[in-house]
Amino acid sequence: SYPGLCKASSGSPTINPGVQVSLKRAVAKKVVELIKPGMIVGLGTGSTASLAIEEMGKLFQKGKLKDVVGVGMSYQSKVLARQFGVKTADLNDVNTIDFAFDGADEVDSSMNLIKGGGAAHTMTKVVDTTAKQCVIIVDQSKIVLELGQTFPVPVEVLPQAISPVLRRLVALGGVPEIRTALRKDGPVITDHGNMVVDVRFPEGIKDPGSLERDINMIPGVLENGLFVGVADSVLVATQDGEDISV
Ligand code: 5RP
Repeated sequence: SYPGLCKASSGSPTINPGVQVSLKRAVAKKVVELIKPGMIVGLGTGSTASLAIEEMGKLFQKGKLKDVVGVGMSYQSKVLARQFGVKTADLNDVNTIDFAFDGADEVDSSMNLIKGGGAAHTMTKVVDTTAKQCVIIVDQSKIVLELGQTFPVPVEVLPQAISPVLRRLVALGGVPEIRTALRKDGPVITDHGNMVVDVRFPEGIKDPGSLERDINMIPGVLENGLFVGVADSVLVATQDGEDISV
């Protein structure tokens, strides 16, 4: 059970898409309240984090985020930040990240995550783990009893190493599938020029920490989307209107 949190579901929860967008907006508004003047802020990626970047932009325009600088975790978040008037810097040009917000594809009761639905998990893991405080923002549909329940584990792979990596993922008990573009006529290519393999684990993911390490030990793997022990807190927007920190 999930003390103080909306109930986890045992399957993919159904949620009205219109309601889901308003939940994402609610949690996005909530997280930007945590940003203090002068902070260097890691800007997450995906639709929920994009709404938070938009909310940051509104505060910027009101002069409320004095000396705040955003560090984008993807081209998408960097471009959006500029579009909404948020000042940005590159990760290599800052000494620290004070605070980071980011979305997730799945969250378990220990605040372990699956990320990478937008193929950006390599840089998001770098920024989220660099941040002094990493806050994950999700709607209730992302809460699961066990990671891997509704979403596969994304793995960023060097294209030149795709075949041996696929074999090693199968040896770990996975069922890997190369992610293709919507047109289905080519693979998705990440910001870093690599491929993404989505891996289902039919036997379940009993120990996300060791699976995260095992996948990253495969030569040719850049990073995988299991984020174990990265989140400091999770804000969950639920249909009954509560935003609850896990
Ligand atoms: C991108 C991510 C996103 O944070 C994740 O896919 C959640 O996205 P959304 O907020 O659109 O549901 O990991 O790689």
